[in-house]
Amino acid sequence: MERRTIRIAMNGVTGRMGYRQHLVRSVLALREQGGLDLGDGTVLWPEPVLVGRREAALRAIAEQHGLEHVSTDLTAVLADPKVEVYFDAQVTAAREGAVRRAVAAGKHVYCEKPTALDFPSALELARLAAAAGVKHGVVQDKLFLPGLVKLRRLAESGFFGRVLSVRGEFGYWVFEGDRQPAQRPSWNYRAQDGGGIVADMFPHWDYLLHELFGRVRTVQALTRTHVGRRWDEEGRPYEATAEDAAYGIFELEGGAVAQINSSWAVRVHRDELVEIQVDGTHGSAVAGLRSCRIQPRGSTPRPVWDPDVPSAGSFRAQWQEVPDDGPVANGFKAQWELFLRHVVRDEPWRWDLVAGARGVQLASLGLRSCAEGRRLPVPEVVL
Ligand SMILES: NC(=O)c1ccc[n+]([C@@H]2O[C@H](COP(=O)([O-])OP(=O)(O)OC[C@H]3O[C@@H](n4cnc5c(N)ncnc54)[C@H](O)[C@@H]3O)[C@@H](O)[C@H]2O)c1
Repeated sequence: MERRTIRIAMNGVTGRMGYRQHLVRSVLALREQGGLDLGDGTVLWPEPVLVGRREAALRAIAEQHGLEHVSTDLTAVLADPKVEVYFDAQVTAAREGAVRRAVAAGKHVYCEKPTALDFPSALELARLAAAAGVKHGVVQDKLFLPGLVKLRRLAESGFFGRVLSVRGEFGYWVFEGDRQPAQRPSWNYRAQDGGGIVADMFPHWDYLLHELFGRVRTVQALTRTHVGRRWDEEGRPYEATAEDAAYGIFELEGGAVAQINSSWAVRVHRDELVEIQVDGTHGSAVAGLRSCRIQPRGSTPRPVWDPDVPSAGSFRAQWQEVPDDGPVANGFKAQWELFLRHVVRDEPWRWDLVAGARGVQLASLGLRSCAEGRRLPVPEVVL
């Protein structure tokens, strides 16, 4: 086997997503499996260059994982011809500037969502990358979750017949930070720092709905900041200026209606932190991160509304589990593999900065729809 090294500048690896999902569970996991077998006698060996603002934190990570390259000088890293890919999982507000610089330096770029703070900037990034002729990608991890892979399989096999509705419930209680530390960074709750659950979650809903059930044609959202006071990483109280819940309705091309609640102020009484129910003329499914259950038309029970009679048996027991299709892979790693193959082998890839801009557009229109108290059309995004 011939080994081909690909050097990847990874910015934001001290963060929650950058460290755990992208560095450890994706890039280092690829190294642990001996590299990425390209199937032509070549193994791709990702060589991360950890980039960030705090050298000591980067060095600590590098040491822990036996990595060689760290830098606090993004300009120098981007000027290095050995670096082929720039990856960004910084706070959202820092992304656009860094991605612009990487594109200008001729690097292929892969980054977290949302790609920018506003739609014109997100579209501009896509245009710049296209003009520079670099490969570009945006994380759309939910598409690669085992439960949602099963849901896609059902949709593509025609299981649902005509899809009528999609209802999604996402969320969990994020601690305020006073008695117990918050599970999410404090910038998430400050609009001025690029926070808010709409910017965070609507990009996910956009690609999920788009790919599985049809392009989002209209959006109507109601947002709330349910918890107005939180405590930051240093234990200091601050005012939450960004919404922590969004109740959205999306009309899809093809006629289905999607209704998705996203909340960091909800306690979980579900099997998974995200659950998507799809009802179609021929069958229904409920999918989560890992599992997916179905109820086909032919075995749909006959519930009858009668408050005087206790329901016979459990409704949940009337659903059938879709079996796993082999070992469960990490969704982030699965997408990394495809992106790297796209970069070095030019294999097909569609989760690019245009798709990223679409997600940012939906978030912007969602917020506007709430501010204006009306449903808004969602234009198609074209370069
Ligand atoms: N795909 C997903 O499911 C998913 C989930 C959560 C977050 N995200 C996205 O990933 C990105 C990072 O989110 P996170 O939760 O890992 O955030 P985080 O706060 O844990 O990490 C942020 C990273 O950015 C760095 N950074 C750079 N400039 C900064 C600045 N000016 N202030 C503060 N930090 C700065 C930090 O050092 C850190 O490495 C966000 O854009 C977020 O939208 C994606």
